[in-house]
Amino acid sequence: MKSTLHFDDWDVPAALPLSIEAFGNVEELRAIDRPGLHSHAERGDDAAGENSSLPPIDAEQKRIVNGQADINQLAPFKYPWAWSFFLNANRNHWTPLEISMAQDVHDYQHKLTPAERHVFENVLAYLTTSDILAMRNIGLAVMEKMSAPELQIYQARQVYEEALHTWTYQHCIETLGIDQREIYNRYRVVPEIHGKIALANRRLHGVLQSGRPLTDRDTLHEFALAYLFFAAVFEGCWFYNGFSPVFALQRRGLMKGAAEQLQYIMRDEVLHCAFGIRVVRQLLEEENLQMDPEALRRMWDEAEAAEAAYAGYILREPILGYNAGLHIEQFRYIANRRARQLGIAEPFSGAANVLPWLDEQANLRKEKNFFETRVTEYQTGGALVWE
Ligand SMILES: [Fe+2]
Ligand SMILES: [Fe+2]
Repeated sequence: MKSTLHFDDWDVPAALPLSIEAFGNVEELRAIDRPGLHSHAERGDDAAGENSSLPPIDAEQKRIVNGQADINQLAPFKYPWAWSFFLNANRNHWTPLEISMAQDVHDYQHKLTPAERHVFENVLAYLTTSDILAMRNIGLAVMEKMSAPELQIYQARQVYEEALHTWTYQHCIETLGIDQREIYNRYRVVPEIHGKIALANRRLHGVLQSGRPLTDRDTLHEFALAYLFFAAVFEGCWFYNGFSPVFALQRRGLMKGAAEQLQYIMRDEVLHCAFGIRVVRQLLEEENLQMDPEALRRMWDEAEAAEAAYAGYILREPILGYNAGLHIEQFRYIANRRARQLGIAEPFSGAANVLPWLDEQANLRKEKNFFETRVTEYQTGGALVWE
């Protein structure tokens, strides 16, 4: 990964020139001491006995899933890019308490129109449920299936970040005095919000079950498609594009504290999406898996339909500078970007970049405020430049 991260215009490096043959006979490897996903050494039941020595790890034995290398030994790395993701993630530190919400309280109570309040509240209602789902998916389902520690360590950080995002929404809800009982239940009672969550639950259901061995090719394929959906659609499109209605308010000087909170979250999500796509590409390469074009088409169509219904609800009345049409077209434009990063065909050919300012929101320098200097201070080593 490049040391300089330009918000969301990163390239996914070409997949490493690995072939499945490099690991010997895969079926033989899989036959060794299944069904556990991890090595003898991890469980401490090595046949040679507890007091005997073990041979050094060969990094080439590591795999994204179903690996045999010791899961507790970090280096030598096979996936140094995963370690770079972890280092970069640690350069985006903040807590929601550090961002002033005082002006937002005034804006929310006195300046927002009913239509703007409707948009703002429903974006929060959707996001907060989504982030809990994201935390559980990575922490309880995906992470356990990774068989190289450098992958799990980044995902451990991601789990923390998803919890931090939930705290951020809760902080916004508390400081603005929004009825918690009502807003947290909104995704259950509003069909257009529930539709996105239900779609995500359905697509992630197969992997949100612990202990499913990925030695079966169909299960492995299902896992790859589910993780692809999670990284490219759920995080890469629905989150990335999901902040934009609040950024539209911010551009008019409204809800700037909440918007800044979302900018921090967006920076995390850019990395989550990039990491997930990188893992999926590596997984497909290692396991010699092909994505079914029809299954991918269904995924994009379902995601677009759910997003269109959601946009139609939250923006049933357009607000100044933003409407449902813009939101959906930008979803299509970002979806095409995710497809390119995955190395697959663009699903929505010709979609236009109708919100060119959205990418700039990942750059906190663009929207100056007095807390921004703190952001710069938090960045260590100067390696992560948001420009
Ligand atoms: Fe998140
Ligand atoms: Fe995320």
